Amino acid sequence: MKRLFKKHILLGVSGGIAAYKSADLVRRLQDEGAIVRVVMTQGAQAFITPLTMQALSGNPVHTELLDTNAEAAMGHIELARWADLVLVAPASANFIARLSRGAADDLLTTVCLATRAKVAISPAMNQAMWSNQATQDNLAHLKTKGIQVIEPGVGSQACGDVGPGRMPDSEVLVNAAANCFEGGRLLGQRVIITAGPTREAIDPVRYISNHSSGKMGYALAEKFAEAGAQVTLISGPVSLDVPAKVDRVSVISAKDMLDAVLERIADCDIFVSAAAVADYTPSEVANQKIKKSETDIRLALAKTTDIIATVAALKNHPVTIGFAAETNDVISYATDKLVRKGLDMIIANDVSDSCIGFNSDDNAVTVITKDQVKHIGQTNKRLLAGELVEHISHLIGL
Ligand code: PMT
Repeated sequence: MKRLFKKHILLGVSGGIAAYKSADLVRRLQDEGAIVRVVMTQGAQAFITPLTMQALSGNPVHTELLDTNAEAAMGHIELARWADLVLVAPASANFIARLSRGAADDLLTTVCLATRAKVAISPAMNQAMWSNQATQDNLAHLKTKGIQVIEPGVGSQACGDVGPGRMPDSEVLVNAAANCFEGGRLLGQRVIITAGPTREAIDPVRYISNHSSGKMGYALAEKFAEAGAQVTLISGPVSLDVPAKVDRVSVISAKDMLDAVLERIADCDIFVSAAAVADYTPSEVANQKIKKSETDIRLALAKTTDIIATVAALKNHPVTIGFAAETNDVISYATDKLVRKGLDMIIANDVSDSCIGFNSDDNAVTVITKDQVKHIGQTNKRLLAGELVEHISHLIGL
């Protein structure tokens, strides 16, 4: 698996001769599977054109903070939210100084301030500017704010000097970017997530199912893996790619899903049930296609086993987190499920609204535990998944 598969990398380019190397960096990040968008400062555009970066990245290049066209397409807040990682390469001494004092005086500094993603910078400048105490103080301050500083290389510089301040080769920067997604607070935690719908066969060609796309469960798998957890995703039939560093087990029916979960649950610390598991399955499955006749037919349905309730009832059960898909009285029905199924947390979503819940890119949820009710407003499922992983980490004291 490519180390940056489907990761959204916002590449910031500030003004310095090393800006020409950023063109190669775009390509190398893409080779590792990343989707790259570029933000250039005014200084950067004196060294390399936005057109070059646009052609290489395959996306429009962003240069202006106060540009109505740019804001209408993908404004600074959307860019900040889109990024999984903001990588500034090269980061000039001036850019570092502005970032260090929290300036928001151009698009790149503003995005860095607004993003909740990790920010990594690759300083590149003349060796005397690098060694200057002001630059070193600024870098030390940025490190205390969680910004990763990629050490520059040492060698001959464009100005003729020799010393530290060279932007490292693309390979080093790609490695540093990939490392930003490794480690994390959930290192060592083993997580099982169910996702997607189940299909309950009626005969060899027909089945009962639902509208779950798997997006919510897959987004959670991605964010748990990013936080360092070892993730097994037990998935019903969906057409989504497996997130990086996630082990997927494909199943079809509710019974398959139950078996796959029980087979692995003994080694699990956190179980999250985001799947829309069928509550009923045909009592009998016809061996051959049921022929159409003149009369109505009736299907006898049997209850499926409640997977999450089964897990929560195990003697040594993992921390158990469910979802509640409700169309009305969302909070009270969800709270009832929390108690009745013996869960540690339930995440309630209102699936009567087609903009959230089933098969949408967004969701809005209420996180309910025995002593907390917290609403998270409508947002993209990947961003929401990041917040949910925070809540779950907090629940288990990490
Ligand atoms: O997949 P998407 O298109 O992204 O949509 C996301 C989602 C709406 C499917 C997801 O956010 C969600 O709400 N999943 C749970 C759907 C559901 O079946 O809810 P429920 O209220 O019927 O069930 C409550 C809990 O019991 C759920 O955690 C469910 O996974 C679990 N369950 C239900 C039945 C069953 N036989 N076994 C179970 O484990």
